[in-house]
Amino acid sequence: MTPSVRARITKFPIRYIDLSMKAESQIMVRPARNVRGSMRLPGDKSISHRYAMLAGIAEGHSRLANYSTGADCASTLGCIRSLGVAWERETGGDNAIAVQGKGASLAAPSGPLDCGNSGSTMRMLSGIVAGQKFTSEIVGDESLSRRPMERVIKPLSAMGAQITSHDGKPPLRITGGSLKAIDYKMPVASAQVKSCLLFAGLFADGETRIEEPLRTRDHSEVALRSFGAQVERKGIGQGGEVRIRGGQRLRGIEARIPGDLSTAAFFLCAAALFPGSQLTIPDLLLNPTRARLLDILAQIGLKISVTQLEEVHGEMVGTLQIEGARLKGVTIAGADSAALIDEIPVLAAIAPYSEQGLEVRDAKELRVKESDRIAAVAANLRRMGAEVEEREDGLKIPGGQSLRAAEIDSFSDHRIAMAFAVAALRAEGETLIHGAESAAISYPAFFQTLDEVVER
Ligand code: S3P
Repeated sequence: MTPSVRARITKFPIRYIDLSMKAESQIMVRPARNVRGSMRLPGDKSISHRYAMLAGIAEGHSRLANYSTGADCASTLGCIRSLGVAWERETGGDNAIAVQGKGASLAAPSGPLDCGNSGSTMRMLSGIVAGQKFTSEIVGDESLSRRPMERVIKPLSAMGAQITSHDGKPPLRITGGSLKAIDYKMPVASAQVKSCLLFAGLFADGETRIEEPLRTRDHSEVALRSFGAQVERKGIGQGGEVRIRGGQRLRGIEARIPGDLSTAAFFLCAAALFPGSQLTIPDLLLNPTRARLLDILAQIGLKISVTQLEEVHGEMVGTLQIEGARLKGVTIAGADSAALIDEIPVLAAIAPYSEQGLEVRDAKELRVKESDRIAAVAANLRRMGAEVEEREDGLKIPGGQSLRAAEIDSFSDHRIAMAFAVAALRAEGETLIHGAESAAISYPAFFQTLDEVVER
């Protein structure tokens, strides 16, 4: 390691990683003995995106407390501002955003809408700008510019939007206007695509019907109802159909966004590494379409309890407690792979420490996330000395392995940086995470919070 690289390494514990941290940074993670304590998490990323977009096209004022602190949700706020929506961050430590809704007609942006690293922003916002009588150019960073957008281009074009792209990838140029409703069977299970079409459906003439092959997170359906729209849902096999009538007007809401369950996953998996761990997370999102992780953690042996369960704006919220145990193995396949798509990297990162390991199948979508997450997980596990079989649609990771410290590459992917900071807690030696600043995409204070609950 060169002296200049060594000088840029932040020894764990670190104090801050903030959104202004644009430069590549490394963090050293030392092994831990236990995870103990209580933590509150910033608002769920999926819900923050949706609330900000819907507040923008609603009539009246919205107040969104505990808005996600991640860079992705800041990208959504930046885009809606470019579309003429006025919003401001309140002072007072509640991470509240006050939004003055502009109603259904947004303003033509004077420059490109920059989605940064956020696929959710690009795909869902495409549905909204497809309903506007102007042209928008939507761009993203290097990683987002490699991600498939055909999945939204095709149905939005069928609704009447004119879209050009770079061979199905960003940047997108969308000229919207009079949309017509469609009946669309999604080939891939994707909540982002479903949401894009539900949002476009609000601007369409007639009733839009979307069929999903597997049930995906339903935050858009739930949020649309909170903002006053009617959305119908019917289950069909493992999937379902949702319908929305065009021309419905939304009204602003006052809401507190529950803690992010996909961010909690990293801390829950860190706790899972040590039989003596005990962790409490109040005000956590527990929406059933997101909570499959809790069943899996229970299945591999952890003791989990939920108290103070309540429904807030249609979303389940509660206090989660987890106690560590000896970890058993598990297989994730079929509908579970779709339901756990964001949590598979961290489940895979702790799998070698379990007794029987992990097998993941039917998770090809992982290859087109912020990085190719199947390849990234396999490469980093191998660096730590683990045996792992990489497959086209998943991974097989034997259990009963011990890992050693290594230099980890985040592949500029927040979930990979955080997953391997967790794996490092039980490795032998000190693990160096390159590209640790990526964690700021969903949770800028990740390393600081981890440091607070880890016992050494
Ligand atoms: C998300 C849906 C999922 C997920 C992403 C957030 C959402 O993506 O991976 O992190 O908020 O709807 P896909 O819709 O591409 O599966």
